[in-house]
Amino acid sequence: MTIRSVMVGCGAYLPARVMTNADLEKVVDTSDDWIVERTGIKSRHIAAEGETTADLAEQAARAALAHAGLDAGQVDLIVLATATPDHTFPATATKVQARLGMTRGVAFDVQAVCSGFVYALAVADNFIKAGQAKVALVIGAETFSRILDWEDRTTCVLFGDGAGAVVLKAEEGRGTGADRGILTTHLHSDGRHHDMLFVDGGPSTTQTVGHVRMRGQEVFKHAVVNLAEVVEEALAANGLEPSQIDWLVPHQANKRIIDSTARKLKMDGTKVVVTVDHHGNTSAASIPLAFVEAVQDGRIKRGDLVLMEAMGGGFTWGAALVRW
Ligand code: ACO
Repeated sequence: MTIRSVMVGCGAYLPARVMTNADLEKVVDTSDDWIVERTGIKSRHIAAEGETTADLAEQAARAALAHAGLDAGQVDLIVLATATPDHTFPATATKVQARLGMTRGVAFDVQAVCSGFVYALAVADNFIKAGQAKVALVIGAETFSRILDWEDRTTCVLFGDGAGAVVLKAEEGRGTGADRGILTTHLHSDGRHHDMLFVDGGPSTTQTVGHVRMRGQEVFKHAVVNLAEVVEEALAANGLEPSQIDWLVPHQANKRIIDSTARKLKMDGTKVVVTVDHHGNTSAASIPLAFVEAVQDGRIKRGDLVLMEAMGGGFTWGAALVRW
């Protein structure tokens, strides 16, 4: 018998305010045509004034717990992926822990930018497999709008705010690909590429929060290569052919990057969950937001095999194969 981290619930939260490309045309020198053609993004959600990452995360966590039919008191572990925490410290996860009324367990943040959710999933899965947690909340939550330079049209049109969460529960499996839960996770990083995508501020450098800076074309090229490799790695580790994957739930950075990975997998577009058009890039929140949308509208069904993949600043990248 093998311990598996089974996804027993999921939930999401999006701020009420929707910002369209037409709205952005009033802020920077851009056009709906340019944004749609280069990225596939049409609109994104933006947190209200005073609405923080912890607020978004709390709502997503409550929705996921309700979906799982579990109380916060049963949760042993919260891993929250974010690059936009409420404060430099303490971890936003501890704020969510308190808000949920949890007086026990462990809560901490994971920082891997757009790969954050896959990283957090891997961390929680390893806690569960090591017997150190039985029920874990994995949250991806971001208020990326707060670290955008709203005068830089090359970045401010790309991102949005939101949160998604899943509940993992330790269950016994047979150790085969037929098991429900997380089958494998695959993480990578290469710090040599720091300057291609980073925030130009921080407590130890500038004592400011800073803004997102990106060399878009280079990020694009690395993303296409790294994602194709990690997806192949995940399939090989499980002895699977791309045709056996029911759903690809990619990080939602850019429709062209998503299409490229799907093409490499020879995956029909109807098996790829795309939300970038109405969410933009929500960094660590993008995979759980897309996953929840496809679960809620009935596309992803219990027992389906789901491949998640992401790439972000660092660079960091990774994949997870999950049977829902
Ligand atoms: N509106 C209008 N014109 C623009 C805009 C804009 N918002 N932004 C840039 N331009 C202009 C540029 O100034 C440039 O003009 P020029 O030719 O006169 O110099 C022209 O459009 C082309 O710019 P490029 O940067 O070459 O455009 P590109 O086709 O590479 O698209 C983009 C840019 C969308 C950022 C693309 O490189 C990309 O998606 N990269 C991946 C980045 C990403 O997704 N990062 C997210 C985090 S990492 C991850 O999640 C994978």
